Amino acid sequence: MAIETNDYQLYVKHYPNSAVSEAFRMLRTNLLLTNIDRGLNSLVVTSADRGEGKSTICANLAVIMAQAEKKVLLLDCDLRLPSQGNLFDIATDVGVTTMVGSFGDDRTVEIPEEVMPGLTVIGSGPPPPNPSEFLGSNKFRAFLEHMEKSYDTVIVDAPPVGLVTDAAVLSALVDGTVLVLDAQSGLRNLALQAKASLEKVNANLIGVILNNVRQERNLYSYYHYRGYQGEE
Ligand SMILES: Nc1ncnc2c1ncn2[C@@H]1O[C@H](COP(=O)(O)OP(=O)(O)OP(=O)(O)O)[C@@H](O)[C@H]1O
Ligand SMILES: [Mg+2]
Repeated sequence: MAIETNDYQLYVKHYPNSAVSEAFRMLRTNLLLTNIDRGLNSLVVTSADRGEGKSTICANLAVIMAQAEKKVLLLDCDLRLPSQGNLFDIATDVGVTTMVGSFGDDRTVEIPEEVMPGLTVIGSGPPPPNPSEFLGSNKFRAFLEHMEKSYDTVIVDAPPVGLVTDAAVLSALVDGTVLVLDAQSGLRNLALQAKASLEKVNANLIGVILNNVRQERNLYSYYHYRGYQGEE
């Protein structure tokens, strides 16, 4: 059986009985039990560097949350290098930027169709001239607050912390921030710097996801997928 790119990237949707899906279910449980009193309505997923697996993790987490009958919104706020449009095969000419642009005082917003029961994905839309300024604007904040009220969970895909301020700006707006670490990258210093940058904006850093963990003697290695592991 050939594995399509999207099957592979949206692993939990296509392979619900895999070890990877089980790891995502564990992550879901951990997140639902985090901030149990205040609730964790919105979440930013970021990392120290490019390519550590943020977008893939956001997409799979969004699917697994929706499978638990949560009303989930996935927002692609990596306005510089968006991925969710391609991952979910949705229109890329509309998205966060166009929706925020037309988000007026009447608070009406045209929500795209769900990509699966319980999951709405909004891609980035055309890039704005200054993404950090866009994400720091009052209009974006109002849009995000509106979305937080409309969904059980809002998952925000973001650029890395190290390169631009976007992720720090976003982290200050949401309930919690998760840092993805590529276990093979060895960029421990960069990860510590990322953590420090997030702490500077008083982000609520709720955990680290260690991605790309090599499992030498793994019962499930025939899935040809490097495992995800949740970590507090
Ligand atoms: N655990 C994994 N095993 C195998 N491939 C992975 C894994 N995690 C991510 N990838 C692959 O690595 C690439 C980068 O992943 P992804 O786009 O999710 O990273 P990112 O952190 O969002 O990158 P960027 O900083 O560019 O937005 C993708 O091709 C993705 O399919
Ligand atoms: Mg990405």
